[in-house]
Amino acid sequence: MAQKLWEKNVQVDRDIEKFTVGKDREMDLFLARYDILGSIAHITMLESIGLLTRDELDRLVEELRRIYAIAEKGEFVIEDGVEDVHSQVELMLTRKLGDIGKKIHSGRSRNDQVLVDLKLFTRSEIKELVTLCYRLFNILVDQSEKYKNVLMPGYTHLQIAMPSSFGLWFGAYAESLVDDLTVLQAAYRICNRNPLGSAAGYGSSFPLNRTMTTRLLGFDSMDYNVVYAQMGRGKTERIVASAMASIAATLSKLAFDACLFNSQNFGFIKLPDEYTTGSSIMPHKKNPDVFELTRARCNKIQALPYEITLISNNLPSGYFRDLQIIKEAFLPSFSNLKECLVMVTQMMTHLTVNQHILDDDKYKLIFSVEEVNRLTLSGVPFRDAYKKVGLDIEAGKFDHDKEVHHSHEGSIGNLCNDRIQLLMQQIIDGFNFHKVENAEQNLLGR
Ligand code: ARG
Repeated sequence: MAQKLWEKNVQVDRDIEKFTVGKDREMDLFLARYDILGSIAHITMLESIGLLTRDELDRLVEELRRIYAIAEKGEFVIEDGVEDVHSQVELMLTRKLGDIGKKIHSGRSRNDQVLVDLKLFTRSEIKELVTLCYRLFNILVDQSEKYKNVLMPGYTHLQIAMPSSFGLWFGAYAESLVDDLTVLQAAYRICNRNPLGSAAGYGSSFPLNRTMTTRLLGFDSMDYNVVYAQMGRGKTERIVASAMASIAATLSKLAFDACLFNSQNFGFIKLPDEYTTGSSIMPHKKNPDVFELTRARCNKIQALPYEITLISNNLPSGYFRDLQIIKEAFLPSFSNLKECLVMVTQMMTHLTVNQHILDDDKYKLIFSVEEVNRLTLSGVPFRDAYKKVGLDIEAGKFDHDKEVHHSHEGSIGNLCNDRIQLLMQQIIDGFNFHKVENAEQNLLGR
C-alpha cells in the first residue's frame, strides 16, 4: 500500500486513516483536473525562479498533461491507501519520472493546493450555471413576449387581486435571474483570485512569483495576504453558495407557482402529459413531480450557505481539517442546481397557457381597481370612487369590461423585456470567461 506523503517511521492506525479520509477521496475526484492545472502553473513558476530546470519542467508538464487527459475521460483513480488527489498526482509523477516528481511540491502545501483547486473548480461550475441560467432566461423572455396579451388574475394573500398577464409572469422570473446572476458575478469575482503561494497559510521562504501563477491560471488578481488566502477557505464556498441559493430561490418560487397554476382549481397552465407522473391507485392523475422535486431540491440548496457557515463557524485563522467537510456539501451541489435549471427550462419551453382564464366570471373583481381609476379619471375623487365601487360590489352590481390600460414601464402594457435583456447582456459580458478559457488552454498546450 502507498505511503502517505507525510508518513515517517510509524504507520498510521487503520481506523484513524478511515475516519480522517472519510468521503474525501470521492470528493477529490471533482478536483482532479483542477489540481493538475494548478500544478502546471506552479511548476512553470518554479522553473522561472530556478527551482526546476527547463528539462525537468518539460518532462513534468508532459506527464501532467497526460494525467489531465485521463481525468478528463473520467478515468482518474485515487488508489487504495493514497490519501487524496494531491498525493495521487505526486505519486504518479514520481513513479514515472523518479526524483523529478518529488520536486513539484517545493514552496507549496496541500492547504494552498486545495484552495486553488476549489477556486478553479468553482469558477468552471459558475460558468456552466451562467450558461444554463441564460438559456432559461431567454426562454422566459420568449414566452413573456409570446403571451404578453394573455391576461390572468394577480393575487395578494392568494386572494384574487388585480389583472396580471402571462407576459408579466414569465418576464418576472426572467428579471429575477438578472438579479441572481448579479449576485453570482460578485461571488465569481471573489472566487477568481489566486490563493496559490500562500502555502500552509504563511507563505514560503522561496521567492515565489505569485503574479506569474495568477496570470497563468487566468485569475483576476490574488488573495494577497497569505493568512487571508487561507481564511478564504469556507468563505469563498459560503459566498458562492449564497449566490446559488439566490438562483435556487427563484426556481423554487417558480416551481410553486407552476404547481399551483397547473392544479385543476386554477387551470392556468398545462404541462404536456409526458412531463407528468401518475398514481398507482388514481387512474386520472397527472402530477407535476418535476416542479415538486425542483422545489425541494432548491430549498435544500438554500440551506447550503447555512450548512457551510455551521461547519466553519468560529474557527480561528489558519488551516483546520474541519474545512475538508465543506467539500461534501459544496461540490455535489452544482450538479443538483444544474439539473434543476435544465428541467425547469424544459418545462417552461413546453407548457401551454390557458388563453381564456378570464371568461370565468369569478375573476371579474380583478377589474375593481380599473373601475375606480376610470371614475377617478372622469373627475370623481379617488376615495369616493373607491367607496362607490366597493358598495356596488357588495350589492352585486359590479361590472367592468375586461380591459386594462396599464402602459407605464414594467406593467402589462409595457413589459420592458428589451431593457431587461440589456441588463442581462451586460452581466453576461462582465464575467469575461474567455480570459479563463485561454489561460487554461495555454497550460494544457492546446
Ligand atoms: N483533504 C484536505 C482538505 O480538504 C487537504 C489538505 C490537507 N492539509 C492538511 N494540513 N492536513 O482540507
